[in-house]
Amino acid sequence: MPPPSGPRDPIAGPETPSAPFPLKLSGKIIKGFGRGSKELGIPTANIPLSGLSVGGHSDLDSGIYFGWAGLDFTSTPVPSTSNTTTTNSSTSNVYPMVMSLGYNPFYKNTVRSVEVHIMHDFASDFYGAHMSLIILGFIRPEYDYVSKESLIEDIRTDIEVARRSLAREAYVAFKEDRSLVEFGQGQEGSEENGKVIGS
Ligand SMILES: Cc1cc2nc3c(=O)[nH]c(=O)nc-3n(C[C@H](O)[C@H](O)[C@H](O)COP(=O)(O)O)c2cc1C
Repeated sequence: MPPPSGPRDPIAGPETPSAPFPLKLSGKIIKGFGRGSKELGIPTANIPLSGLSVGGHSDLDSGIYFGWAGLDFTSTPVPSTSNTTTTNSSTSNVYPMVMSLGYNPFYKNTVRSVEVHIMHDFASDFYGAHMSLIILGFIRPEYDYVSKESLIEDIRTDIEVARRSLAREAYVAFKEDRSLVEFGQGQEGSEENGKVIGS
């Protein structure tokens, strides 16, 4: 499906997150096809999808979502950051994120994937780090595009929509949720699986 023409909504979702949100998902960061950084200039941290049905959300629509991501660097080197005022006295950090769930119709993937763009400049990759997500809203369905440039433009708009949407009081509050920094708490199954850990 091609994207609709016309201007996009500047903000997504109601003033307060509403059902099925918040959704919590967690997993170890794995390598995707590597196109995010190289081809699009928009790096993504991918997590395996195998457990997305846990918590009764197997029906989660493909599309673009926004929320917060907590990263645990205890088992990986802390990547340096372009923001030199940030000190990493703690090994976990919470950042705004946009997430793509689906088949990437532009690339015609045959496997559904979870790809998270963390809205922060990291100087290096950090495969193997644990990531916990709180998904707070839906931005749009996935589309097929006539060019790579139009895909990039829409992802850049998603990032701005997410930034504005997360700035609302009820959304900012979730940044403090303990599940973003307490890794390995209340999770079932294998560490390797991306899984919804309850809502
Ligand atoms: C916010 C966001 C929105 C995206 N929207 C689409 C989309 O509408 N259609 C699409 O085919 N891919 C979309 N993608 C997926 C990118 O194509 C994907 O991240 C890229 O192919 C890199 O994948 P890789 O890490 O597996 O190499 C989106 C990715 C992000 C982070």
